[in-house]
Amino acid sequence: MLANRRILLIIGGGIAAYKALDLIRRLKGAGASVTPVLTKGGAEFVTALSVGALARVKVHQDLFDLTDEAEMGHIQLSRAADLLVVAPATADILAKMAGGRADDLASTLLLATDKRVLVAPAMNVRMWTHPATQRNVERLKADGVLFVGPEVGEMACGETGPGRMAEPEAILAAIGASLGDGPLKGRHVIVTSGPTHEPIDPVRYIANRSSGAQGTALAAALRDLGARVTFVTGPATVPPPAGVTVVPAQTAAHMAAAVEAALPADAAVMAAAVADWRVANASTRKMKKDASGKAPELQFAENPDILARLSQGPERPKLVVGFAAETDDLVANATAKRARKGCDWIVANDVRPETGIMGGSDNAITLVSAMGAEPWPRMPKDEVARRLAARIADALAKG
Ligand code: C5P
Repeated sequence: MLANRRILLIIGGGIAAYKALDLIRRLKGAGASVTPVLTKGGAEFVTALSVGALARVKVHQDLFDLTDEAEMGHIQLSRAADLLVVAPATADILAKMAGGRADDLASTLLLATDKRVLVAPAMNVRMWTHPATQRNVERLKADGVLFVGPEVGEMACGETGPGRMAEPEAILAAIGASLGDGPLKGRHVIVTSGPTHEPIDPVRYIANRSSGAQGTALAAALRDLGARVTFVTGPATVPPPAGVTVVPAQTAAHMAAAVEAALPADAAVMAAAVADWRVANASTRKMKKDASGKAPELQFAENPDILARLSQGPERPKLVVGFAAETDDLVANATAKRARKGCDWIVANDVRPETGIMGGSDNAITLVSAMGAEPWPRMPKDEVARRLAARIADALAKG
């Protein structure tokens, strides 16, 4: 699965370092080559001898190693890999990475690399939940660093909560995903997400309550299966995922143009809450109250229906998925919408306020396809995204 892939594995100082040995074994088993870097802390937990024996290559430990500098400087070392993996990633390593420090071999490699970095954090619960660590994690995610774990569970220190390093098997899967070796490898998927803002005048606009959470989770899940994702996003409240091509769009018209420009694609998932109407007589100057007390009269014009256009257009992706947010007659409305728009699937959401779905972290969807309506149990939006992405991969594989 990882044949000829080159992994630079940085082993930080934590009791979870023993799992890094198992990770090396699994990586070798999957056909990858592993260049191990052992931090000073890491060497307190596992020996260079065991790491080197499993990886069957020299273990790098010092920044100012004269042999290393003569043979291959630390800059080359950081670039000769396809992916950098830090496991376990301690609070200290995350802090150094977030701050851009380079005071030992591991932090210098992480700063010098031009490759993607995947970290598997492992630390005490309090250290993980500390605002300083969480700040660093947010910063690193914004920088495009990929994370696997930590898991929730019992820890070596006796406390329970988030902080356990992900199991080697999960790290291996995340490495495959980071390298784009999943079932959607070579596929291009367009995802629209978030609300649109339709201007009334230069300072006012019409919008909706979409957060972009489900579309963002979907783009990340598709990326994790190896797809090349073009993420066309309205002004959402959640940040876009790393590792996808982000195309920001303000209005429905911008979004329609961005989707068209991103074609061709193998699949398209239209999760954006696109405004059906725009203000036809939007003012180029800020509207003012005047003495007459007369309210302005807005006129509306219909926006392009991106989903319908795409489904019925000449460059139709093989699989087109639409979303439907409904408060009444969910299945009947979604089924009618599927036929009207000409898409393959409709992911129907019950957005009655009492469900707490709009803006919440859970979702309960019904997948409407040619096969009928399939209600899914309520689950986190991330899980909905993973399952939908897997279904999309299946559908494309079936041809
Ligand atoms: O018609 P309605 O807005 O309920 O349909 C929802 C689906 O259609 C969503 O997938 C949405 O992204 C898409 N849509 C669109 N362009 C519009 C309106 C909706 O792509 N103008």
